Amino acid sequence: MSSALQNDLYLRALMREPVERTPVWVMRQAGRYLPEYLAVRKQAGDFMTLCSTPELACEVTLQPIDRFNLDAAILFSDILTIPDAMGLGLHFVAGEGPKFSKPIKSRSDVDKLPNLDAGTDLRYVMDAVSLIRKELNGRVPLIGFSGSPWTLATYMVEGSGTKDFSKVKGMLYGDTEAMHALLNKNAIAVTNYLNAQVAAGAQALMIFDTWGGVLSPDSYREFSLHYMQQIVDGLTREADGRRVPVVLFTKNGGRWLSDMADTGCDGLGVDWTIDLADAKQAVKGRVALQGNLDPSVLYGSPERIRNEVKKVLDSYGTDPGHVFNLGHGIHQFVNPDNLGVMVEAVREYSTR
Ligand code: CP3
Repeated sequence: MSSALQNDLYLRALMREPVERTPVWVMRQAGRYLPEYLAVRKQAGDFMTLCSTPELACEVTLQPIDRFNLDAAILFSDILTIPDAMGLGLHFVAGEGPKFSKPIKSRSDVDKLPNLDAGTDLRYVMDAVSLIRKELNGRVPLIGFSGSPWTLATYMVEGSGTKDFSKVKGMLYGDTEAMHALLNKNAIAVTNYLNAQVAAGAQALMIFDTWGGVLSPDSYREFSLHYMQQIVDGLTREADGRRVPVVLFTKNGGRWLSDMADTGCDGLGVDWTIDLADAKQAVKGRVALQGNLDPSVLYGSPERIRNEVKKVLDSYGTDPGHVFNLGHGIHQFVNPDNLGVMVEAVREYSTR
């Protein structure tokens, strides 16, 4: 596919192999805090055009790698490409976030959802993946991603972002069978989508379960974790003779890390509401951990940022299996120079 990897720290850390220093990347690393991103988005006209134009998606994917020398690139796209391809009518309203013109309201809406063939129905994503791999030319590995079935369902049923999750939880408790039918369709689509990304060149996979943490422990297992398990079981785990690690991230899921580790994934994303030392105790060496600096730390002074980075690194300790990241996506009003301070601090303090 392309030349050998020059920097495989990220893949080795996820396999819990010893590394010379802790690898670092950042969720939403290509985004609105970067002036060069805003310039390309302006050129594209709108966000979905940016996602669906492989040359532009490739360009913004590489921007943070060029600026900060991060240890992994993540495909520039969005989790909502799947429901968009299913025909729900995705659009982004400035200042209000994503909206669907045809949200899922009933069992019959669920039954009408098409079965996706990601290689053709989401061809633009696969074209972006192959182009990014070519342009990266082995500098760092490329992460592919998807939303979790439950997180996708929240947007598909609510029709937008939400604070109380009343519609989607209304369906979960009011028509449980319809909810399971929807989650099953999403799980099949996500598995197919992620495997197509691996076939196109993705070298690691991440599943964003942004809203699993709003569920009760029982509901989390039944409606979110169960379907992530189904996906993990169906994924291509090797490509080009190398393991394709899978990372699960449930925001606010610190209580469930042990159950998540049981899925057979390779790594878990951890947000800042739990200490990495405690997270490590919970997973008992079964998986690697990714995280977990509070994104708001990047509003602090350089000195404060360095201090907080050191605390995260110390909390994990020197055992293998740590990928440094924020505990969630970088905020749009952060000064990019402060991310530079963070990355440098990770390099400096973690070099063995
Ligand atoms: O991490 C990366 O750099 C890869 C790119 C990426 C984006 N979205 C780009 C994006 C990834 C991994 C996502 C995932 C995503 N999208 C999630 C799950 C991850 C998480 O943060 O927990 C969710 C819930 C979405 C849905 C979504 N897309 C929302 C809520 C928004 C914000 C809308 C707004 O106006 O604030 C988006 C848009 C989006 N996706 C942006 C980016 C850079 C900003 C769009 C812009 O340029 O205006």
